[in-house]
Formats: sequence, structure tokens, C-alpha cells
Amino acid sequence: MDIHIKSGKLEVLEGRCLLILATKDGKLLNGFDAAAEQLKPFAESGEFGKAAGGNIYLTQPQGIKAQRLLFFNVGEKVNKPEDLRKASASAWKILRGKGFKEVLFSLDGLEDDAVRAVLEGFILADYQYTDLKSEKDKLPGRLESLTLHDNRGCGEKVARWQAICSGTMRARDLSQMPANLLHPERMAELASEWAEPCGYKATILDEAAIKKEGMGSFYSVGYGSDRESRFIIMEYEPEQPSGKTVVLVGKAVTFDSGGLSLKPSGGMAEMKGDMGGGAAVIGTMSVLRDAGCKHRVIGLVPAAENMPSSKATRPSDVVTSLSGLTIEINNTDAEGRLILADALTYAARYKPDFVVDYATLTGACLVALGPGVCGVMGNHQGLVDTILKASKTVNEPFWQLPLVDEYNEFLKSPVADISNISSSKWGGTITAGLFLQRFAAEYKWAHCDIAAAILEKGNAYSTTGGNGTGVRMSVEMLEDL
Ligand code: BES
Ligand code: ZN
Ligand code: ZN
Repeated sequence: MDIHIKSGKLEVLEGRCLLILATKDGKLLNGFDAAAEQLKPFAESGEFGKAAGGNIYLTQPQGIKAQRLLFFNVGEKVNKPEDLRKASASAWKILRGKGFKEVLFSLDGLEDDAVRAVLEGFILADYQYTDLKSEKDKLPGRLESLTLHDNRGCGEKVARWQAICSGTMRARDLSQMPANLLHPERMAELASEWAEPCGYKATILDEAAIKKEGMGSFYSVGYGSDRESRFIIMEYEPEQPSGKTVVLVGKAVTFDSGGLSLKPSGGMAEMKGDMGGGAAVIGTMSVLRDAGCKHRVIGLVPAAENMPSSKATRPSDVVTSLSGLTIEINNTDAEGRLILADALTYAARYKPDFVVDYATLTGACLVALGPGVCGVMGNHQGLVDTILKASKTVNEPFWQLPLVDEYNEFLKSPVADISNISSSKWGGTITAGLFLQRFAAEYKWAHCDIAAAILEKGNAYSTTGGNGTGVRMSVEMLEDL
């Protein structure tokens, strides 16, 4: 999508359709004064609707050069940026239905956070995963051009926010891709392809190198699959460094069948999205330069496919992790923590100030928080608070769970240093977090359980299934660290 910024008088700007947001009583949020007069009779008669979503479409608007005018009802008032994200997303879908490929929108009257929200609504609502559809002309039309009327010089910020959205869409593409096309090798190839144009360096370790490094825990997960595992290392160096190093770690199980602890078939298909943590990290790395991130950031993505076969890890097998800790694998479906354990140990090599991991780790997190909220826990409250604040700003909801020390008891193994599953059936998200904590003792660390990210039903601007959760939050978090 091309974004054009135009200053001057809105009334004289050419365009196919001008979009104006207004409250249900006809008070304009943006636009030009005379437009209020044109909306007034419709607001008074009730035709504009009593709630958010109502709209009035004028084919012969007065006093403007734009050929059409759409008034979109934001409801009683705008309480939060999310209302605007949904408004611009829904308004674009109305215009798309009328065959438009371009929109004219004025930023006059909107604060920065409102401008950002409106922009995110347009861009993210326009997202579609279409690579595998043959009849592309039958798909909903695309927003090819967005003209923003701006007299405050928002251009640079708009470019930054647009770049951040492109990271979310890269993460969505990865999550939407089926697992026969997106296996660990392909994910590594894509991360390498995006390195140069996006301003980071990529290094890939193949399966032999993973084994040689001593990542026995990670190695064990992909062992049953004909697809080789890959360890994706991405490094971003800022031009004017803050002196801080942050490592982002993302779980990328390109398909989680459960392994020999096979999952029931209902719901297994969703496990193509079990690389959502890795997608969030790759998506984030891909926008750091354009977002102007000041920290040195390393992205580590262990990628494996978890499959049953005669070579696969058996429940009761013991492996030695990179940290030296031995792990009894009592359930091969608790594989995410196994690949993360070694990546977290590896992360210490960079002497990080902060480490954050992202993983579609536990079904229990969905039981605890439902399909719209992710879990966060960690060994440093300041870092967790930064994540919670960032999550609020971009409305990717996160909620903190406690790392209950006493539950460490549940991870004891009779034969090894630790078991990969808890002996209690309760608190599975917390015990998974406690497992990871053993490998993250050397630095300030937070763990994001984003299981919700692959199950969300979608909304006005979000896709069903892998929706790129974590990218906007992470860029915002990095800004605050
Ligand atoms: N990838 C799953 C977790 C998951 C489930 C994510 C549903 C999104 C939606 C993970 O690898 C898993 O299978 N976890 C097990 C852990 C259990 C065996 C201790 C789970 O949650 O049941
Ligand atoms: Zn699993
Ligand atoms: Zn998994």
C-alpha cells in the first residue's frame, strides 16, 4: 500500500472518496467544518445509526473536490485508540465493498496516538493471505493507496508506524503458511532473505551444527521428523547504539503433532501456528531499523518439527541440554520448552541486559486467560511492567502470572535433573514458565506465552489464526527499555 501525505486545504484535495469519522450525534473527529452541516440531518433523523458502525455515504458531497464522502459512526465517543483502530478497519471494508482501491483521510483534529490507531486499522485490516488462492480476482480488493491530509508534519511518524505494521504482516504470513510449505529450513531461508533489505544479519545453524553445539534438548525435538531443524540467529546493530543488548527468543515448532505423545486429531491442524513465537521475533527483527530502535537486538529462533516416527524421542528419554542440565522427557508434546531451554542458554553468550521469549507454549494459558489474552511472567518485575505497558499501548493484551516458587517441586525427575512436565495437572502455564526459568537465571528475563495468538477468532483488523501478536508489542517494549 502506498501512503501519500498532502498538506494544504482538505477541500481542494482530489480523491475518489473522503472518509470522515464522527460520533453518533454528528460531531466530527476529523475533516472540515462544512461537512458537519452535511451530516447533521442524518444524525438527527437517526439514519447515521445509534452505535459504532453506522455510516452515511454521499455520492454528491458539497464543497470538496473528492468525488464521494463516507461518514463513519464511532459511537457515543472515542474512549481508547482501539475504537479508532476498529473504526478505520470497518470503514475501509465498507469502501472495499463499493470497489474503492484508495481512501482520502484527514489527520486534522487527531492526536498522535489516534493517528497511529487509524493507520493500524487501515493497514492491518487490508491484510489477506492470498498466496495459495488461484482466483485472485475473486478475492476482496486491496487498499492500494491511502492519502493522508496532514498539516502537522506527521510524515516520519507515519512511515515508522507503517513499517511496524509490515512486521506484523510478515509474522502473519509465516503463521498462516501451512506446515508442508513452512518447515524449519524454509523459515530459515525466509529469515535470511529478509536480512539485507530489513537491516539485520542472519546466521543459520543446521541440524549437525545444533548437535555439535551441544543443544541436546533442542536437537531431540526435531529428531522424529524428516525435516531438519534450524537455529536462526538474527543480529541488529543500531547506528547510534544505546549500549544495551536485548535478546528475543521465539519458539518455532513448524508443526506440533505432539510427537509420540500424539495430540488428538481435533485441533491438531491449528498446530501449524506453533511457530508463532518465532514469527513474532522474525517480524520484530525485520522492522527494527525502520522503527529506529537504539538497542543492539539479537533474535534467536530455534525451529523444529515435532513428529512421531521410529526415530522420535520416546517419553522417558533423557537428554542433556546446552546448560548441562539433564532433562527427562516425560511427554514429547511439551516440546516448546525443550527448544527454548537451549536457546535461552545460548542467549547468555551475548551478555544481554534483557531477554524476552515468545512461545505458543501451553494450552493451559488459554484455559487461564481465554483466547484473547497472552500470559507474561519473569524474574524481573521492571521488564514485565515494560511489557504490560507496551501491550496496553498497542492493544495486544497481556496479563501477568506468578512464577510460584513452591511449584518447582512438580518438575522433579527421579532419574534426571528436571522433568519436562509437571507432576501436577494444575497451573500448567506457570510450571512451563518455571521450567524455562532454570535456563534463564543469568539475566533479566520475561516469558510471553502467546498460545492465544494462534487461536484468536479475528476482529475488524485481525486475522483468524496466527495474527502477528507480539510484533507491535515488542517494538513498543524496546522503545521503553
Ligand atoms: N503447542 C502446544 C501448546 C498450545 C496448545 C498452543 C493449544 C496453542 C494452542 C504445546 O507444545 C503443548 O502441546 N503443550 C502441552 C503441554 C503439556 C503436555 C504439559 C499442553 O498445553 O497441553
Ligand atoms: Zn506440544
Ligand atoms: Zn508446541
